[in-house]
Amino acid sequence: MSSSLSIPRQAIYYVKKVLARDITNVQVVSPCEKQGQSFVTAFEELSANVKLNSSLEQLSNTRNTDVLIFNNALSQILNNADLLTDFLKNATNAASIGGLVIIREDLKNATDKRQVARLTDYFDVFRTTDSDGNNTGLDLYTVDQVNNSAYVEQNFLDFIFVFRKKVFAPTTDATITFRDFLDKTQYTNTGIDAYEWMFGVNFISPGGYAENLKIIKKFGDLKPGQTMLDIGVGIGGGARQVADEFGVHVHGIDLSSNMLAIALERLHEQKDSRVKYSITDALVYQFEDDSFDYVFSRDCIQHIPDTEKLFSRIFKALKPGGKVLITMYGKGYGEQSDKFKTYVSQRAYFLKNLKEINEIAQKTGFVNVQTENMTPRFKEILLEERSHLEQNEPEFLSKFTQRERDSLISGWTDKLGYIEKDNHNWNFFLAQKPFPK
Ligand SMILES: C[S@@+](CC[C@H](N)C(=O)[O-])C[C@H]1O[C@@H](n2cnc3c(N)ncnc32)[C@H](O)[C@@H]1O
Repeated sequence: MSSSLSIPRQAIYYVKKVLARDITNVQVVSPCEKQGQSFVTAFEELSANVKLNSSLEQLSNTRNTDVLIFNNALSQILNNADLLTDFLKNATNAASIGGLVIIREDLKNATDKRQVARLTDYFDVFRTTDSDGNNTGLDLYTVDQVNNSAYVEQNFLDFIFVFRKKVFAPTTDATITFRDFLDKTQYTNTGIDAYEWMFGVNFISPGGYAENLKIIKKFGDLKPGQTMLDIGVGIGGGARQVADEFGVHVHGIDLSSNMLAIALERLHEQKDSRVKYSITDALVYQFEDDSFDYVFSRDCIQHIPDTEKLFSRIFKALKPGGKVLITMYGKGYGEQSDKFKTYVSQRAYFLKNLKEINEIAQKTGFVNVQTENMTPRFKEILLEERSHLEQNEPEFLSKFTQRERDSLISGWTDKLGYIEKDNHNWNFFLAQKPFPK
């Protein structure tokens, strides 16, 4: 989906992509009757039985719905946790298992410009027991921007949340989805701010803007109007950089709603419709085949368990002749210390060495594979960043606590130690999808 389409057609796009079955019934809740009617007209084209409701209460006894659409229906309850919980319970009960819940909510007038993160968190971790005793909830497919609003109104904070109703195994874990884990451990709001102070404005990766530009240039000749997927875009620095510097159109995705809410807030201020973002998992979002000139990923894929699946998805999404460039935290060849093993398991990292990356790339079908062990550069950057903090402590401590300062210093020092033992590596990978023969 690269250019503008109407909001009901954007909803239908998800139904076709995500719901792998015919739909028989659709419920639309829209306080604005005219907009509600436009959803009805669009969905009737799919031969579905569509019912339009003007308020949430009308859904309380509904069950087994294939597609539920809420069009700006939540504005009165957004800041009331109890009412939101009631809404989620009703919406989850009203959907069939596997059915889609699509929530369009324009948040441009919200006082908290990062409200999308709070809502995503709410929706993603909500669970309720259904009448058969199943632990049900809404499985996140994506939170996308409303295309039309970004293109036509320069409103980058109008959202479509897309979920599938699912039965989940009961859990007593402190975090219950991987998004929840990312947002509550490594990428809390304070954690992100402190990281950004360390790495540089708009970046959560070694070396900030300057290093990213150096890396991006390894793609070769980027041209205006070309398209790029940025996997694990974070707070958006890399996406904005390629749009600004090269005129490339970027779809940036990230699973951390805290990260992406910052990227979206900044995008809304900058009004750059060459960039769009989605809160989604790189292993879940269904990209169009053969659609990107480039796939880029800075220091994200160590978070992703199945590298083979990721590489084959990247391969499919690239145009023939398209290129992929990834930097990643990786493992070296030295014997791993217990401390390093603990660090890797606490972060839930899946580290690969360059040999393994090469093998997966060949198996996937990539050609012109180039890899590089960039660990010496990683060491230089870690040393620079640590001494920058040591030399600017008063400024850091005017924004953050002593605890955050100590945790960054020890984190950076520990990484330098892992590098000495060839446990921690920083790896580079560039490859091409071949043209058909
Ligand atoms: C170290 S940060 C790098 C951010 C950004 N690339 C940069 O250079 O500033 C890694 C990012 O990967 C994201 N991430 C982790 N697992 C992901 C997944 N399965 N799908 C999409 N993003 C993911 C994290 O939420 C985080 O924002």
